[in-house]
Amino acid sequence: IMKRHYKFDIILQNVTRLCHTKSILTVNGQFPGPPIVARDGDRVVVKVVNHVQNNVTVHWHGVRQLKSGWSDGPAYITQCPIQQGQSYVYNFTITGQIGTLFWHAHISWLRATLYGPIIILPKRNASYPFPKPYKEVPIIFGEWWNVDQEAVINQALQTGGGPNVSDAYTINGLPGPLYNCSAKDTFKLKVKPGKTYLLRLINAALNDELFFSIANHTVTVVGADANYLKPFDADTLLIAPGQTTDVLLRTKPYLPNATFFMAARPYFTGLGTFDNSTTVGILGYESPSPIFSIKNLPLFKPTLPNLTDTSSATNFTKRFRSLASTQFPAKVPQKVDKSFFFTIGMGTSPCPQNQTCQGPNGAKFASSVNNISFVFPTVGILQAHFFGQSKGVYTTDFPTKTLVPFNYTGTPPNNTVVSNGTKAVVVAFNTSVEVVLQDTSILGAENHPLHLHGFDFFVVGQGFGNHDPIKDPPKYNLVDPVQRNTVGVPVGGWVAIRFFADNPGAWFMHCHFDVHTSWGLRMVWIVLDGELPSQKLPPPPPDLPKC
Ligand code: C2O
Repeated sequence: IMKRHYKFDIILQNVTRLCHTKSILTVNGQFPGPPIVARDGDRVVVKVVNHVQNNVTVHWHGVRQLKSGWSDGPAYITQCPIQQGQSYVYNFTITGQIGTLFWHAHISWLRATLYGPIIILPKRNASYPFPKPYKEVPIIFGEWWNVDQEAVINQALQTGGGPNVSDAYTINGLPGPLYNCSAKDTFKLKVKPGKTYLLRLINAALNDELFFSIANHTVTVVGADANYLKPFDADTLLIAPGQTTDVLLRTKPYLPNATFFMAARPYFTGLGTFDNSTTVGILGYESPSPIFSIKNLPLFKPTLPNLTDTSSATNFTKRFRSLASTQFPAKVPQKVDKSFFFTIGMGTSPCPQNQTCQGPNGAKFASSVNNISFVFPTVGILQAHFFGQSKGVYTTDFPTKTLVPFNYTGTPPNNTVVSNGTKAVVVAFNTSVEVVLQDTSILGAENHPLHLHGFDFFVVGQGFGNHDPIKDPPKYNLVDPVQRNTVGVPVGGWVAIRFFADNPGAWFMHCHFDVHTSWGLRMVWIVLDGELPSQKLPPPPPDLPKC
């Protein structure tokens, strides 16, 4: 098999945006970081060398990591962090995934600056199930903070409040001309008329779902989270942190010098203040070459849905269907061995002494799954599991019984107080799992982009209000539901997902809003080894970092 070797040196680099110069953590001095490019079936080998004081890990978001859980990357789940002066080699094979994923740091909020694309091409001599694009362009959304984002999280954690607003959203690391002192930091895409471009959209932002649109251009959505879709046209896209969307952009026949904005803005339904600024890039037609001037040319501007436009959001996500062709079948679990009901959302915990907290009745905000706010252990859960040393690291009494009747209309914080714990759900190898994720939305009102490591799940159902265990399951789509690794659990609603637990290891599941993850909206699945040697997780590599 083909091997792709990369070296990631974690180093500090001065970067200036919005007239603020900051020393940020980067891979090889690049911001955003370098792309990983591989074909389906290739082995990817990345040596990460940590030259900075911060402890670091890197996660290959969405890569299935079949029997390579030691390379997954979340700190204290599958590995201890790579300390200054240490290195670790991540080694994994791409298996049956084609499209776009991304890599990012997976410790604290370091993914604010440590992220980059993963581009997965079809096997050699295989082709896309759509016309070959003339060019492929990664477009990665992020956020920029003038201050140290670590300081912001520390404050958020202590008070349990929400000062999690960045200073700008970015396209390929560039905020664009609508922000002060930022015109020169604008992403520019030069296109030829009458061609098809594959845009690989990645939301690497920390805390916001984004609407995205290109003025006067309709795109065709063809993939999500490295899975093919039944193509559909859209003027505006919604993309949650942790999600990727592949779209085809067909340029117009003849438009010399015309320039168009592409714009992204948060869909935000949270409490408190929000930043409603917009990051824009410019699409410019050659003739012979576009003039990317904001002053001299009429720029066409896209219209984006209003903030908190829930119907635009749901109407868009409803349209996602697996391609489900003969060549790319959708292997949806038709029967379920184990079903789980998880309430996810915001809760509260007591405010620490001598502090002012910003939750209801002076409490501190916390997040939870089934009212358990997950606390990181001080060693990796996967090691503890593999070597049979779970004692003092984690427990397996995660409450999987439905917390019925959950009082969704109760007055906070009485029915929202969370408890802390490091609890895992254990399932046997090859269990067919269904999980209903019910958003409680007693506090706050935001979609939660729930991300599962190690699996692509099928989104078989979704709705608003309470999930009804009698009426809803008969309506599930078991034919061509979208398959992905991150799903937006709708505000005040639910989604049902299914997957085969065919990958032994310890797998993190969490909200991909870093602020919610930090508050505890995270948990761990442990999938046991199967009987056959081929169904067992191999031992850890010798260079696995120690705590
Ligand atoms: Cu992209 Cu656990 O994360």
